[in-house]
Amino acid sequence: ATKAASLTLDASKPGATIDRHIFGQFAEHLGHGIYEGVWVGPTSTIPNTRGIRNDVVAALKAIKVPVVRWPGGCFADEYHWRNGIGPADKRRAGLNPNWGGVVEPNTFGTHEFMDFVEQIGAEAYISANVGTGTPQESAEWLEYLTAENTVLAQERAANGHPAPYKVAFWGIGNESWGCGGAMSADYYLSQLKLYSRFSRNYLNGQKMQQIAVGPDGGKTEYTETIMKAWRDKVWSWNIDGLSLHSYTVNGWPPAKKATGFGEDDYASFIKETVGMDDLIKTHSAIMDKYDPAKKISLVVDEWGSWLAPTPGSKPGFLMQQNSQRDAILTALNFNIFARHADRVRMTNIAQMVNVLQAMILTDKERMLLTPTYHVFKMYVPFHDAKLVPVSIDAGTYAFGDIRLPRVDAIAAIDKNGKLWLALTNVDPNAAVGIAVNLPDVHASTALGETLTAPRIDAVNTFEAPDVVTPKAVKLSVSNNKLAFTLAPQSVTVLGFQP
Ligand code: AHR
Repeated sequence: ATKAASLTLDASKPGATIDRHIFGQFAEHLGHGIYEGVWVGPTSTIPNTRGIRNDVVAALKAIKVPVVRWPGGCFADEYHWRNGIGPADKRRAGLNPNWGGVVEPNTFGTHEFMDFVEQIGAEAYISANVGTGTPQESAEWLEYLTAENTVLAQERAANGHPAPYKVAFWGIGNESWGCGGAMSADYYLSQLKLYSRFSRNYLNGQKMQQIAVGPDGGKTEYTETIMKAWRDKVWSWNIDGLSLHSYTVNGWPPAKKATGFGEDDYASFIKETVGMDDLIKTHSAIMDKYDPAKKISLVVDEWGSWLAPTPGSKPGFLMQQNSQRDAILTALNFNIFARHADRVRMTNIAQMVNVLQAMILTDKERMLLTPTYHVFKMYVPFHDAKLVPVSIDAGTYAFGDIRLPRVDAIAAIDKNGKLWLALTNVDPNAAVGIAVNLPDVHASTALGETLTAPRIDAVNTFEAPDVVTPKAVKLSVSNNKLAFTLAPQSVTVLGFQP
């Protein structure tokens, strides 16, 4: 059955800028996220540049990844940067106790990460070790990265990089309320002050943002404690962002199937994921109290679906398939982040390759792009675009007790003045005939792409990598109106032109 919906957008009222960093990535030393997914080593038969996979680099360049958070995650609070510099054959191998207890060879370290972000054209977001490290270790890492004419700068040069690196974001710990040391908010705050004060960015003229650990989902203690201290501080420490972690899991430990699930699982995942809006509102309200000028960003630096591991995969490697459900979930979260663009200025999906809700899966020399990847690509026009108001008569998608708006949408104007519209039909059972009103928009054509799938649990596999791929759409606009049909369980992005 085809349902009806309508939408009116007001292109004359551009609002907040949708920071491109909202479309960021997270890559941890976890399972095959870095090793095999990004790093194969310079002697590999898999085509690579200085050890970094060429196919993965090309795919990530195409989605214009703005920023990558590294090296963790829980891994970050046990990472000692000195183990990952210097000649590869002299590096000290350690263990990765959080993630399968496997050997961490340290062949991918600081220089390799900075090479990787440079190859894909992204900025670096590095998480310092607060759990098992010291303020001195953190300060020296940042000096090693960014200084000129110091002993540490000379060591960096001797290791092959005379020029200082640009570090855009510095994370002070990870989940310090949990795997980062189970610290009370007050204890973490005292650590934060030391790390913020003494970790100095020496690269002249280069603003670096410091990100504090913030809330675990809906818990507000970290948000209250850190924001209050920030407002009342006299001098000597500062932050630019507060991190929020929230996964779509549907119960703990994660046990919901990645494929072969029914509509009950689908509907409850979508309901849980749109709860991101309430979470952001809860923490934004506290932040507004202490920071009404919105100087501090809320940084959702871990989000995405966390499902039962792929059968037969290694425990602790967090491998999961990625279906059309993940595509819908991605678009809904992007829309929520964009609507909170005045406070949410960076997010990092967990995780980039082969781990959790990944963009890319690899199997030795093979690589595939997931439905989530395609949504990231379709939303590229929204990077740094200005949000425009949309009013929508969305209809209702109902399953059991769950009621959700059937259609969700955002619109924005990019730097060249071009108008873009993104529409998601959440309903897996019904197409939607949508009437779009575009007052004051001079357009005759809408060009874009739509992503749908034969089933809501459809996935791309190495044998069939193109089951879920976007299809081109070309539509006519007349008298400031556009009418077309959104397929069930679909994401569509359209750009308007005269
Ligand atoms: O992304 C996997 C893990 O989830 C991260 O290491 C940790 O920060 C979070 O609990």
